[in-house]
Amino acid sequence: MTEMNRRSVLMVGAGSYLPSHVMTNDDLSEFVETDDSWIKQRTGISQRHIVAEGEKTSDLAVNAAQRALENARLSAVDIDIIIIATTTPDDTFPSTASVVQHKLKAYQAFAFDVQAVCAGFVYGLGVGESLIKSGQGRRALIIGAESFTKLLNWKDRTTCVLFGDGAGAVILEASDDAPQDWGVLSTVLHTDGRYRDILYVDGGPSTTGTVGHVKMKGQDVFKHAVEKLSSAMNEVIQKTGHQTDDIDWLIPHQANIRIIDGMQRKLGLPAERVVRCVDKHANTSAASIPLALTEAVSDGRVKAGDLLAFEAIGGGLSWGASLVRFGRPF
Ligand code: UT7
Repeated sequence: MTEMNRRSVLMVGAGSYLPSHVMTNDDLSEFVETDDSWIKQRTGISQRHIVAEGEKTSDLAVNAAQRALENARLSAVDIDIIIIATTTPDDTFPSTASVVQHKLKAYQAFAFDVQAVCAGFVYGLGVGESLIKSGQGRRALIIGAESFTKLLNWKDRTTCVLFGDGAGAVILEASDDAPQDWGVLSTVLHTDGRYRDILYVDGGPSTTGTVGHVKMKGQDVFKHAVEKLSSAMNEVIQKTGHQTDDIDWLIPHQANIRIIDGMQRKLGLPAERVVRCVDKHANTSAASIPLALTEAVSDGRVKAGDLLAFEAIGGGLSWGASLVRFGRPF
């Protein structure tokens, strides 16, 4: 085993940010034909946060990043790599990560975006872990940030009730003397482009020259979600030599409470070991996992040493799962 292979990648802090404006299901039903009980029953969602006029994805990301840095007792100058998972960048280019680098004054870091829609946070985690393991830097800021409501057609009730805005961030840190079973233990990533048409936006720079709106065949996505997420989770559990029962917290992508509950039952995990916040945030795409993680860290549920399982699926289809022993061991 080389020096590099022995390097652990710890997850040493988490932070999040939600725009202040809250839109409830009742607010929605004032301008689109829907109702609170349908939305709650079919999705578990009660409300979502919406960006203010002039508030950008990079603003959400910076706020989440500052809170994650505080939580990890670090400052922006300690960061070598900034990765933002987003489907809703400020502009087509430059990357939102480079805007955030400037706002944080983290000029020593290289910065770029990853695009894997709702699976973006798990992809960002996988890329960040690999970059640290290969010696490209010692600390990475991984941010999921979305102004996803900008992609919604507010007249389409089959999609506009499902999504919200927000950002969450984690900090990864190299350690050459942590116990073997700490930090990011394994991440698996998958894509199947044959299912492109069940979840996409009908616009883009090289097609229409517009941003486009979300289109989704909800039931098809639902079926793929439970099957593909549980198989990715089993794969990652097997790769690390752990058992499902070792997982302290399942922190899933927050798209639909029925998918989350379906996963929990399929894995055979007790319901009380699952972090759920889809009721308050709706589906915030790449931001949903770090938002849920931060909530559970802040209220004391997730502690250093806990084994966390992350999983997410979204447009592409793209999906993935990751097992992480959280915090610093010392
Ligand atoms: O992040 C990953 C991306 N997305 C997902 O994970 C989403 C996966 N899919 C889902 O969560 C669910 O499929 C939905 C929540 C999108 C839809 O739930 P469903 O139980 O699959 O409902 P459905 O699409 O079969 O629609 C049932 C009925 C339809 O009426 P009819 O045709 O039975 O008369 C819809 O027109 O509900 C109607 N409907 C609504 N009614 C009130 C659809 N949207 C609404 C609405 N309010 N907002």
